[in-house]
Amino acid sequence: MSLLRADLERLPAYVPGRTIPGAIKLASNEVTLPPTPPVLAAIAGAAAAGNRYPDLAVTTLSERLAEALKVDGSRIAVGCGSVSLCQQLVQATCLEPAEEVLFAWRSFEAYPIVTQIGGATARTVALDSDFRHDIDAMAAVVGPRTRLVMICSPNNPTGTVVTRDELERFLGSLRSDVLVAMDEAYYEFITDPAAANGLDLIDTYPNLVVLRTFSKAYRLAALRVGYAVGSPGVATALRKVCSPFSVNSLAQAAAVAALDDATNLLAGCAGIITERVRVRDALVAHGFTVPPTQSNFVWLALGERTAPFAAHCLQQKVVVRPFHPDGVRVTISTSEENDAFLSAALTFSP
Ligand SMILES: Cc1ncc(COP(=O)(O)O)c(C=O)c1O
Repeated sequence: MSLLRADLERLPAYVPGRTIPGAIKLASNEVTLPPTPPVLAAIAGAAAAGNRYPDLAVTTLSERLAEALKVDGSRIAVGCGSVSLCQQLVQATCLEPAEEVLFAWRSFEAYPIVTQIGGATARTVALDSDFRHDIDAMAAVVGPRTRLVMICSPNNPTGTVVTRDELERFLGSLRSDVLVAMDEAYYEFITDPAAANGLDLIDTYPNLVVLRTFSKAYRLAALRVGYAVGSPGVATALRKVCSPFSVNSLAQAAAVAALDDATNLLAGCAGIITERVRVRDALVAHGFTVPPTQSNFVWLALGERTAPFAAHCLQQKVVVRPFHPDGVRVTISTSEENDAFLSAALTFSP
């Protein structure tokens, strides 16, 4: 008998984007701009009460989200980043090791990790040849043991979206005791009118829950705050399995201030949306395979050339995120930083 769970040996480590002094970091899908002044002021204000525990029920932020999203507050659960909510979803749905969490692959690298931590079994379905979720293939493998389905749209790392038609077809085919989580961490960057917006469907499908985050468009990745919106029952379950006080006071105050400053913050997405087209066009013109992206990153399907490409970019002081041997994900940043990446990419010879 060992001291620790035997399966931890096999737990894949979450690999964070590297931060290298003097290099441009395009490896973590952060927004390059800092939080706006009112948000910084709210963080400083909350820091002054740092001796007190945060509001366990996250009352003010939940009410503010309810108002912004036009849903009842009982349907919202706030978490320590949406990655924490992914883990809470597994804990709230899976009890037996044979119970399954289904997701597309390649997708967000936290899914297999939180599935294993939750003691459940991961079931994956390959993305299609356009690097999109193969929704019908996913529907076909849902079985009696499937408890949770993670759908990532836009998909990290490929940037592709699930359409509303696809999501409705999937939900319509599903048993009502399978929970579907639409992970919309990059929702604010979507411009495709056909893309699904999970919030439009939560009234029709009580087994649908939507995850969003303040880490990307709202520029609060360091503060760790995300939220889930679904049925009151699912939101209650997520709150039950949440570590107490894990959404800290600075995060709560910052997120409220970010919602108050949403117009300003979301205006910042427009430049990223313009730049992602420019960057992709340049890469495609050079012969790279890059699916159209609805997010703040692009995916270069480099196969075995993944690791050499990332090493080449690093030599040029640009840090990208390799997923060898599939491809490289590169965050869209300011035009200067994107140019630095492009000049590295366009001088790559495998
Ligand atoms: C698809 C997806 N979901 C969730 C997250 C986690 O975000 P958070 O910072 O809210 O934990 C990320 C972060 O990169 C992501 O890419």
